[in-house]
Amino acid sequence: MTTLSSPAVAAPRETGSDRWWRTAVVYQVYPRSFADGDGDGTGDLAGVRSRLPYLASLGVDALWFTPWYASPLADGGYDVADYRAIDPAFGTLAEAEALIAEAREHGIRTIVDVVPNHVSDQHAWFREAVAAGPGSLQRQRFWFREGRGAHGELPPTDWPSTFGGPAWTRVTEPDGRPGEWYLHLFAPEQPDLNWSHPQVRREHEDVLRFWFDRGVAGVRIDSATMPVKDPALPELDEGSTHPFVDRDEVHQIYCSWRAVADSYPEKRVLIGEVWLDDPARFARYLRPDEMHSAFNFDFMRRPWDAEQLRESIAETLASHRPVLAAPTWVLSNHDVTRPVTRYGREDSSFLHARTFGVPTDLGLGRRRARAAALLSAALPGSLYIYQGDELGLPEVDDLPAEARQDPVFLRTGGADPGRDGCRVPLPWSESGASHGFSVDPEATAWLPQPPEWAGLSVRRQENTPTSMLTLYRVALELRRTTPALIGEDFAWLETQKGVLGFRRGEDFACLINFSAEPQPLPRAEVLLSSGELSGGLLPADTAVWLRLQEKEGH
Ligand code: GLC
Repeated sequence: MTTLSSPAVAAPRETGSDRWWRTAVVYQVYPRSFADGDGDGTGDLAGVRSRLPYLASLGVDALWFTPWYASPLADGGYDVADYRAIDPAFGTLAEAEALIAEAREHGIRTIVDVVPNHVSDQHAWFREAVAAGPGSLQRQRFWFREGRGAHGELPPTDWPSTFGGPAWTRVTEPDGRPGEWYLHLFAPEQPDLNWSHPQVRREHEDVLRFWFDRGVAGVRIDSATMPVKDPALPELDEGSTHPFVDRDEVHQIYCSWRAVADSYPEKRVLIGEVWLDDPARFARYLRPDEMHSAFNFDFMRRPWDAEQLRESIAETLASHRPVLAAPTWVLSNHDVTRPVTRYGREDSSFLHARTFGVPTDLGLGRRRARAAALLSAALPGSLYIYQGDELGLPEVDDLPAEARQDPVFLRTGGADPGRDGCRVPLPWSESGASHGFSVDPEATAWLPQPPEWAGLSVRRQENTPTSMLTLYRVALELRRTTPALIGEDFAWLETQKGVLGFRRGEDFACLINFSAEPQPLPRAEVLLSSGELSGGLLPADTAVWLRLQEKEGH
């Protein structure tokens, strides 16, 4: 059935510790929802520390923490009030330092989030700017402008905020009169910084050093294409370039950050949140003197379809090659619909799934999510796992409106359910009011968990051979110990329509059946499959890892 379509191209092996990120498995921790160590129903650093053995046994190489800094949590912590303090709800700086060190003892590196585009409206700089009034030096660190209209009553531009509503909010001046407007591409509680101001640049480089000095191995860079704005503030449809997305000058920021990262004996890593459709523009962020790596959202947003995913993988590999960067493979994160739910819908590209009442076949979604896990873990590059995907948690669609906290829900008047449904606290056991999420069995989680999540808990899954958790653990162990998967070479296999297949190294193959019919398998040893194989056939929506015994035709 399978024949080699192209000779394997031997890519350089990058196994030295300086290059760990090229093949790393990075587990994303959303601290508020991972584990509650102090019994208040909100996740915290004590909870993460208590679960490090779990993360080590899952087999991850690094943890990426979404923001854990002091924050009013208007956008789940992406509104940072103080980068040098841990939010009291999560713990203390001393606990963060202990966590970084303990994780490292388990062989796990730590990555923290930095948010260059904006700060919280409670950040000292913004409070000072509002208080200092128009024309002040303090306002120059942000984007304050006069409004349009006879009395300045209209926003300076018609730019929309990513979270709904206008991207400008008018302040009340210290004298009590309505005054200037400030720019916020996200929520009003997230004023945008002015990156042409030298203090903004210097401050962020200091923040990087602050965390690098505490032993973090790298940073995830939030909304990385957006910090630089066209100072003329044109409307979106004016001019040949976008006024704030992917402007050429933004690259200078990351070149400077790279110099900071490279100044450490154990070089630190920059990982960008880069949402861009054009693979060539995307790859510019990965040039050798910029970021090391960036999330591959194209792969994440493709529907469950062999041709679509093949195209995405091929384009990813092709666009990364010229800049010598390692690809990343991402199935979800704290912003998107969980894979089990997404793949159980007719339209499995997540952007269209952010709506209420979409018919969902969770059984189908689960089968496909299992297959997607093996597909993504077998590709060359680094792998990102969002907490709870290893348990096969579905999106929680029916959270009560009063429990929802995402500004996307609040600012669209509830039209868009927002992202709370993928942020529901993890179930660790069958017992207690929060399924073991909290150390206090009486405490309820900050977002309600569905009662059936007891059956998806870590304790229920950990000794069950057919569970999602077992699949992830075995897959990550094989990924770590199979020489072909440690290298970077890759070649497509010729397959029937509806089947995706590729080879890694000399003898490893991954096949995924996207068609409705079972498909024949080549002669090979089965290392792992996402579902039961019967009679030598690969069922629909199933992936398999094989050790090829001999090349076909020999
Ligand atoms: C990124 C984050 C998202 C946040 C936004 C604004 O997209 O992943 O959660 O709301 O930036 O900081």
